[in-house]
Amino acid sequence: MKKTIITGDRPTGNLHLGHYFGSLQNRVKLQKDYDTFILIADVQALTDNFDKPDKVRKNVYELTLDYLSVGIDPQYSNIYIQSMIPETAELTIYFSNLVSISRLFRNPTTKNEAIQKENIFGKEYSNMTYGFLGYPVSQAADITILDGEVVPVGDDQLPHVEQTREIVRKFNSIYGDTFKEPEAVLSKTPRVKGLDGNDKMGKSLGNAIYLKDDLDTVTKKVMGAVTDPNKIKKDDPANPDVCMVYYYHKLLNNPNLDNICSECKLGTRGCVGCKKELIEELMKLLSPIQEKRKYYEEHPEEVEKILKDGTAAAKKRAEEVMKRVRKSMQLDYFE
Ligand code: TRP
Repeated sequence: MKKTIITGDRPTGNLHLGHYFGSLQNRVKLQKDYDTFILIADVQALTDNFDKPDKVRKNVYELTLDYLSVGIDPQYSNIYIQSMIPETAELTIYFSNLVSISRLFRNPTTKNEAIQKENIFGKEYSNMTYGFLGYPVSQAADITILDGEVVPVGDDQLPHVEQTREIVRKFNSIYGDTFKEPEAVLSKTPRVKGLDGNDKMGKSLGNAIYLKDDLDTVTKKVMGAVTDPNKIKKDDPANPDVCMVYYYHKLLNNPNLDNICSECKLGTRGCVGCKKELIEELMKLLSPIQEKRKYYEEHPEEVEKILKDGTAAAKKRAEEVMKRVRKSMQLDYFE
């Protein structure tokens, strides 16, 4: 029996290299050896976009294209829409009794997000909504409603998986053994820095290279990347360790890496040439992804069928698990 993978993303924008190296690559690698379910977390996206349903709706389709273009293969992976599995909402209500409000406030990921979204949640999140604070509970339901065992994600999701494990332990101790404790799986690079040197590449930080960025866009972005500020002239020696261009050469496993490093230190490598080389390497990675994307863009009926089939598979499993939950909780009336 294969173990079950559950993972996914919020449909709030296109995926970028942070997602690719942080988790997508891992999902593609693991999908043949696991029963894989990848959710498009539209319900979670609404927790901080409740007033933008059109944005969420549009990005459900965009995210599906991103997934298919990197090699998530519907032959192995079920891509499904979170809101189409209402059993998740039901389970969320039962789980919400098992988590204290102070525990939710201690979640570092939710906290960081709330700080970044001061425009919605107010200073020191004085206008924090019940839905946003509680989304990790709903995420625990996403994972357990399909008997998820393995969760390949970036490192910002670790607190949510930990929260899920706590809920599972508490649920099992009260209502009897019902769920397995899932485990997070991190990639070798669980976090990718931004072009601006920021610790994290992020949709909302404006420092990302998107999987669908074309040559012109990539060129503009890489030309603006942060390099060693002490290097003024082309032949000044520099420190590659503070240079984002070098960081990306390393991330992409450029076979020329040792030369890049020594030439940079000696001052025999200009930043412009170095950036051009990076642009070429990036396009080597992105071009095949973009070709695949184009295929699916031209075959929307195929994309819709993939989503429908994936959602049906998830729904079937969720119904079975929910029966088990109602039995454990003595809610199995009329059975
Ligand atoms: N929190 C994830 C994100 O921000 C999305 C998500 C929702 C998820 N439910 C999940 C990830 C379950 C893994 C497992 O992108």
